[in-house]
Amino acid sequence: MCGIVGYIGKKDASPVLISGLSKLEYRGYDSAGVAIFNGDKLEIVKRKGRLKNLSDALDAEPVHGNAGIGHTRWATHGEPSDVNSHPHSNADGSICVVHNGIIENYIKLREFLISKGYKFVSETDTEVIPHLLDFFYEGDLLEAVRKVLGEIRGSYAFGIITSKEPDKLIAVRKDSPLIVGLGEGENFIASDIPAVLNYTRDVYLLNDNEIAVLTKDDIKLYTLDGKEIKKEVYHVTWDAEAAEKGGYEHFMMKEIHEQPKVIRDTMASRVMLGEPITLDKIKLTKEEIAGINKIYIVACGTAYHAGLVGKYAIEKLARIPVEIDIASEYRYRDPIIDKNTLVIVVSQSGETADTLAALRESKARGCRVIAVTNVVGSSVSREASDVLYTLAGPEIAVASTKAYITQLVAMYIIALFFAENKGTVSKEEIEKIKTEMLNLPDKAEKVLELKEEVKRHAGEIYKEEDMFFLGRGLDYAVAMEGSLKLKEISYIHSEAYAAGELKHGPIALIEEGTIMITLATQDYLFEKMVSNIKEVKARHAHVIALAFEGNEDIEKTVDSAVFLPRTIDLLAPVLSVIPLQLLSYYISVMKGCDVDKPRNLAKSVTVE
Ligand code: M6R
Repeated sequence: MCGIVGYIGKKDASPVLISGLSKLEYRGYDSAGVAIFNGDKLEIVKRKGRLKNLSDALDAEPVHGNAGIGHTRWATHGEPSDVNSHPHSNADGSICVVHNGIIENYIKLREFLISKGYKFVSETDTEVIPHLLDFFYEGDLLEAVRKVLGEIRGSYAFGIITSKEPDKLIAVRKDSPLIVGLGEGENFIASDIPAVLNYTRDVYLLNDNEIAVLTKDDIKLYTLDGKEIKKEVYHVTWDAEAAEKGGYEHFMMKEIHEQPKVIRDTMASRVMLGEPITLDKIKLTKEEIAGINKIYIVACGTAYHAGLVGKYAIEKLARIPVEIDIASEYRYRDPIIDKNTLVIVVSQSGETADTLAALRESKARGCRVIAVTNVVGSSVSREASDVLYTLAGPEIAVASTKAYITQLVAMYIIALFFAENKGTVSKEEIEKIKTEMLNLPDKAEKVLELKEEVKRHAGEIYKEEDMFFLGRGLDYAVAMEGSLKLKEISYIHSEAYAAGELKHGPIALIEEGTIMITLATQDYLFEKMVSNIKEVKARHAHVIALAFEGNEDIEKTVDSAVFLPRTIDLLAPVLSVIPLQLLSYYISVMKGCDVDKPRNLAKSVTVE
């Protein structure tokens, strides 16, 4: 996720911006840049790679001035490169913008601006903003900003500066974080509080659709329709390290809480009611789609578990046979694939050695390969035939949570895309699924409200040495992910089983008090699942169930149950995985484990 800083005051802006950006490095980035008003014009310096590359460039050729904006970019639209880095400007460089978020309707805006003679130099969605500002500017930057906000859709935090009104810095946010720092004869903007803590502890926490106009001596806050607002100053009492984690104790918890937002981001501009599903720039003609006789999904770990849901969704909706394999197995087992096989590799990092090798093997055998990845410019994204990005933002905790949930969303989007194009599902049914998908962020928020309840369950079982996760259908796929999460961060041995398989062996392990986490979200399998639960209860297991609201009857069968807001069976994994993530998290904390950096694990497994 990108980081924004802005400064207006008496100090030299350049070191203030670099210091602020360095405090936002934890957010992850692949390039950085600044625009500083040098008393005459705005000078832009930007560099791909680490912040050091930018500060070295500024050391070599310093830019002096008392107002500027800076940015660390986490690429979403266009690879990490100098030209795609922010700030972006209009043609004469008099208006500069830094942006965090996604402009959903940027393609239409770009076409409109091109028709008006504007020229684009980058692949970013952001570049439409300075050009639109230029289009609307009539001597009042605030007015132009308000007009631009009326034209754009999406999530954003902006820092905006113009050499035509150099005593001003404008900031605005919607669905992306932004704060304003209050200084003496100087003021600041930033994506997060740590960026300003060296200078001030007094901040305004901007709400969505609030515009801040900063001068060195004053800050005015406005609504979108131009009404001035008064806001309370928030005095920061905690330290910078806590701030990086957004006030959470661990990155994993922060990332679990970001899930409603990243679900929304991953659907943005792809899932819209009444409009066809789009896979960004991936072009697949009806003939090409008709020519696909098999899909192979290949991935590792958590990404593989997302692929299991993908197999189910694609087969159910698009009626294309899907095979799924673990990348380290696939690459050595001479898979039956050819030019009619579509291979989908799923990888958060885009650098997993086995997944990359599977991709290369598939391409060598003539397959088209779609990469579902979270990292723009990663090896997988560069080598695949096509890419669909999961827009989870950087994931720092080793245990994947928010990336997994966006991989699920990507799987549903792909399944719906094929179903729509093949006509295997009625238009009404597709609209119904899309409606349910668009409700998922709000429902995920509701699931997060269950965290105290989940914590209580964690407190009851964290001393156990073994646990089982049971489910049927999609619940089994989620059970596998829940079990992996628990192993990874709490070091408790656990097994996930398809509930119907239990009596073929593993039931022998069940004795008095054995912990069984059972998922029962699939309506069409509910009765079967309850029967399986009764089998383990008969052996005196201790059963905690996850079910939808409305199925409270299950409490008669189990020891305790957690109830989730209802969605359709197909989408249940997006909600049911959250309590399992929380359960592992709390157990890990209670056991005193290193939640974010579990032993023996690496975030990105770049070796075989
Ligand atoms: O970056 P990738 O998605 O390719 O990584 C795959 C696995 O290594 C990864 O999902 C791993 O299982 C995580 N630690 C899960 O939390």
